[in-house]
Amino acid sequence: MAGNQTFTMIKPTAFKKNYAGAILKMITEAGFQVKAMKLTRLTAEQAGTFYAVHKGKPFYQALVEFMSSGPIVAVILEKENAVEAFRNFIGATNPENAAEGTIRKLYGTSLQQNAVHGSDSDENAVIEADFFFSKMERF
Ligand code: TYD
Repeated sequence: MAGNQTFTMIKPTAFKKNYAGAILKMITEAGFQVKAMKLTRLTAEQAGTFYAVHKGKPFYQALVEFMSSGPIVAVILEKENAVEAFRNFIGATNPENAAEGTIRKLYGTSLQQNAVHGSDSDENAVIEADFFFSKMERF
């Protein structure tokens, strides 16, 4: 059975460009309920751990540097079939290929700086949510 929670981050460029409010508005208007949220900044080591599955790939080092380059907004979201629903909602990884009207199309500036993260499985949603939030910070 599909889980009902997913994890997202508003990435450094999108936050710096002041898109966080508009992005969160789109997300909540699409029916995703915020269950936890914080503004924080990853160290390079933390970003490396978060994206460890990509270690060794040509884009890994630059991705780690980018993701630790400034503040991000970390959010746990709830909706039926959350992981798949959210990935469909944000659009393709590369903003150039993302459907019109999606967050990545509207607010992404490159493949690396594609505005938002979205968990790719229920298992990873749990791992990623636990990476950022304690029990006390979740509702
Ligand atoms: P990936 O897990 O493939 O995409 P998604 O975020 O849609 O699940 O990649 C993780 C992030 O790595 C992606 O959001 C942007 C970055 N990335 C690059 O910088 N270069 C690349 O060639 C790829 C595939 C991803």
